[in-house]
Amino acid sequence: MNLQNLAYAIDQSIHNLGAVSVTGGAILALLSGVARRKLAWIVLSGWAVQGMTGALFGVLSYAFYGHLPDIAGIAVDALVIKMACAASGFFLAAFYLRQARTENMNFWRIEALLAIAALTAASFLRWFS
Ligand code: HEM
Repeated sequence: MNLQNLAYAIDQSIHNLGAVSVTGGAILALLSGVARRKLAWIVLSGWAVQGMTGALFGVLSYAFYGHLPDIAGIAVDALVIKMACAASGFFLAAFYLRQARTENMNFWRIEALLAIAALTAASFLRWFS
C-alpha cells in the first residue's frame, strides 16, 4: 500500500467528518429543539478539526514533496475563505458557549451559513487547483 495515499486518505476522512459536524450540527440545532449546548460543542470541535486536518494537508505535502501545494488564483481565494470560515465559526461557537447563549437562533443561522460557505469554497479549491 502507498503510504502517501494512505496518509492523505486518512486526513481527508477526518476532514470530511469535521465538515459533517459543523454543517450537520448547525442545521440540526436550527431544526430541532434538543441538546443545543451539546451541538455547540460538536460544532466548535468540528471547526478545530477542520483547521488541524486542513493544515495537515500542507504538512503532508511538505513531507512528501518538499513544498506546499502549488495553487494560485481562485484556489487561493477559496482556501482563504475556508480558513476565514473555520476561524470565525470556531470563535463564534466558543463565545456563545461561554456566554451560555446556545439557544440564540441567529448564532445557529450564522454557523450554518459559514459551514455552507466553507463547503462551497471547498468545491472551488478542489476544481481550480
Ligand atoms: C483552515 C481551514 C481549512 C483548510 C486549510 C483546508 C484545506 C483543505 C485542502 C488542502 C483540501 C484538499 C483540496 C484538494 O483536493 O486538492 C481540502 C479539501 C476539502 N475540504 Fe478543507 N480546509 C479547511 C477547512 C474546511 C472547512 C471548514 C470545510 C467544510 C465545512 C472543508 C471542507 C472540505 C471538503 C469537503 C474537501 C474535499 C473537497 C473535494 O475533494 O471535493 N474544509 N481542504
